[in-house]
This record gives sequence, C-alpha cells and structure tokens, in this order.
Amino acid sequence: MSAPKKLFIKTYGCQMNVYDSERMAEALGGEGYVETKSADDADMILLNTCHIREKAAEKVYSELGRFKGLKAEKPDLKIGVAGCVAQAEGEEIMRRQPLVDLVVGPQSYHRLPEMEAKTREGEKVLDTDFPEEDKFEKLKNRPKAKRGPTAFLTVQEGCDKFCAFCVVPYTRGAEVSRPADRILTEARDLVERGVREITLLGQNVNAYHGAGPNGDLTLAQLIWELDKVDGLERIRFTTSHPNDMQDDLIEAHGTCAKLMPYLHLPVQAGSDKILKRMNRSHTAESYIRLIERIRAARSDILISGDFIVGFPEETEEDFQATMDLVEEVKYGTAYSFKYSTRPGTPAAERPQVDPAAADDRLQRLQALLTRQQREVQDGMVGREVGVLFEKTGRLPGQMVGKSDYLHAVHVADCNRDAGELARVRIVSSGANSLAGELIG
Ligand code: SAH
Ligand code: SF4
Ligand code: F3S
Repeated sequence: MSAPKKLFIKTYGCQMNVYDSERMAEALGGEGYVETKSADDADMILLNTCHIREKAAEKVYSELGRFKGLKAEKPDLKIGVAGCVAQAEGEEIMRRQPLVDLVVGPQSYHRLPEMEAKTREGEKVLDTDFPEEDKFEKLKNRPKAKRGPTAFLTVQEGCDKFCAFCVVPYTRGAEVSRPADRILTEARDLVERGVREITLLGQNVNAYHGAGPNGDLTLAQLIWELDKVDGLERIRFTTSHPNDMQDDLIEAHGTCAKLMPYLHLPVQAGSDKILKRMNRSHTAESYIRLIERIRAARSDILISGDFIVGFPEETEEDFQATMDLVEEVKYGTAYSFKYSTRPGTPAAERPQVDPAAADDRLQRLQALLTRQQREVQDGMVGREVGVLFEKTGRLPGQMVGKSDYLHAVHVADCNRDAGELARVRIVSSGANSLAGELIG
C-alpha cells in the first residue's frame, strides 16, 4: 500500500467553516488523505476562506503567495481555495494566483474527491455551483474517528435576510434547513464517538424549519428532540437573528436543562435610522424588549452580541445610541467590527464614514464592551457552575473546560477526564478565564 497523502487545511471565518473543514477532511480521507498540522509536508493545501470583511480576503492572497517556494520544491503539491472567498471571487483567484489548482465553493465540498482526482491529471478545477443534491447526505458515512467532548453540527445554511452590509446571502446562498432525522442521526453518531456538547450552527440558526415526521420543526422543537439523546449533555446554537427569536425558543431557555444559558444575538447598532439602513428589520427598542423576555425566561442567561461601527451615514449621535443600547443590555461577551465595504452589497454604494472617526468609535465601543465582559466574568466568582472538561491544563493535575456560560474554567487538583461534567465553584477571575474548585 502506498503511504497516505497529507492534507493541510487552514480555516478562517465562522464556526460553519470549522464544521465544513472537518467534512472536507473526511471527504478526502476517503481518498487516502490524512491531516497534517504543517503545510511543509502536505501533498494538498486547502485554505477554507472567509469573505465577511476586506482583510479576511486579503489574508488569503498573502497566504497563497507564501506557498510559492513550497510549490517550486514540490511540483506535485496541489493548492485549493474553499469557502466564501472561493464562492465570491473564484475566477479572479484562478487568474490572480496561478499557484491555485482548485477552487471549491461551500455548496460543492462533496465533489472534492472527483475534483482532487482531476487536479492529479494536471487540470485546474473550479466549482462554485449551488447544486441541487444534498451535500450533507453525500458527505456522510466517512471513517468514524473518536472525537473530543464538543462538536459543531450545521443544521441550517444560507441567509435570506440581506442585511445591507453582508456578503453571506451571496456566498452561502438561500436559506436551507436540513431535515431533522439527519441531524438526529448525526448527533447520535457524534455522541457515540465521545461528544457531550453539540453547538447547532446556521447563519440564521433560529430560522431553522427543517422537515420532521409531522411537518416542519422549529429550532426549539429540534432542540427538544436532541434533548432526548442519551449521553448528550449540553446543547448550544449560533447565530441567531432577533426577528426569528420565537416564543418556543425563548421558553426552552427556561425549561430545557440541556440548553445552555448563553445566547449570541447580534444587534449590530443601536440607532433606528442605521438599523433601518442596514435592513435589519428590528429596532433598538424591540431588541431590548426581546432581551427582557429572554431574561424573564432564564434570568442568568449570558448575552453575546455583534456590532458594526462606521456604517455609511452613521453620525456621532447614532453611535451614541449604540453605546446606550450596550449600557442597557449589558453583554457578557461581544464582537465588534469597523464597517468594511463589500463589493456587490447595497451599502457599498453609500457615503462612507471618515475612517478615523470609525476607528475612534470602535475603540470607545470596545472599551465599554470589554468592561462589561470583565464585570460579568468577575460576577461569576463565588457561584456554582457546570463545567465540561475539554483538556488537561498546563499545571500537573489541572483540567480546563467551559462553564455553562462558555467561560474557560481552570480547575486544579482535578481527578477528572476530558468529557466529564462537574459542578465547580468559581474562586477567581483572571484575564481571559476563571479558576474554580470541584464541589463534593
Ligand atoms: N449570520 C450572523 C453572522 C453574520 S457575519 C448574523 O446575522 O448575525 C458575523 C458578523 O460580522 C455580523 O454579525 C456583523 O457584525 C459582522 N459583519 C458582517 N458584514 C460586515 C461588514 N461588511 N463589515 C463589518 N462587519 C461585518
Ligand atoms: Fe448577514 Fe444579516 Fe444574513 Fe446575518 S442576517 S448572515 S448579517 S445578511
Ligand atoms: Fe465568513 Fe462565510 Fe462564515 S463570509 S463568516 S466564512 S459564512
């Protein structure tokens, strides 16, 4: 038998890309590839790319340039670009960077084996179709390796919301939900392989409406089905849109013990004028009322958010409205970005904010969000939380895991294995993590 070929995958962007990279590795595993952590000894390099902001795409081009020497040394090395930059600029990548042998969009990963074979014949291959067939079905039944305690599971893809700044509806296509039975089969399989916590993924995960035995299921109904899976201890989901936050999902946060008290609910901005121009179809007020209802269902829930500053025509007053909203909501964690013009999106054509003003606003917003994050984290001290251990720590006997609220927690003198859940009392709060001790 010939030695296995080596595959190096580098993943950028969101968790869906992490999930997709795993599936691509499995698909090529069937063709005799094993993963390597170094590009230097790879027979194939795949960059799984993100197009959400300008720098994300630029990074890909500079990374590709760095493989020039490697390819000169190893003419058989194949280089592929996958993900959202591949979808958006596939042909341009092929033109601009002759090193690239293969371009594959997010909806065509199941065709990778055939594409790889063609590159071995010396062809250049580009596939950025939105095919009819179900790529997830074609990607299943791959070698079943043991897994760590946590996993992502894509349940919904694409987006029909068309926020004025965003490329996702163009790179991932229309919103599609996977049928519930396939998700449950995949979840059971993950649990058999050692997984204890599953994060359900979708660009608009709470718009989930996959087929069930008696009609479509909501995300909450899917969560209740997953709740019945023995051995699965924790369920999370991301990313949600405020407009799809239905009553049964809010209620599940109060009643489903496996559903963790953490919700990523991006608002983007606090000014109604800007929200309208962003095509967000919610107001600051409706978002705040929604958070109140969610907290009424589960008072200790940790709220996470996404923000964009410097969206076209944002004034200082508009920005202040974002700061006010943040003060009111109080976020446990958040991601904030300077608006980045994306070609082909409606906002790209509008008058842009002075970049220095946008930088200044971003700094002020981030200072506030960091302060809040710190306060919420420090507020955990003295509390009892569940922790799912994921790996050993740097100190002897130490284990590291995630709390119910997704904080990293270090526990000393801990006679537990990865994959075990424990009750832990938080004793101190550090820069980016908590320390705790086992209870009982
Ligand atoms: N589907 C999710 C996430 C989309 S992308 C949602 O609807 O929330 C993740 C985040 O990137 C967005 O929430 C937004 O805050 C940010 N983002 C998207 N496009 C952007 C752009 N053009 N410039 C800056 N930030 C952007
Ligand atoms: Fe992008 Fe808006 Fe869709 Fe989120 S809801 S993926 S921000 S278009
Ligand atoms: Fe990026 Fe595509 Fe995800 S643009 S954020 S990799 S959906």
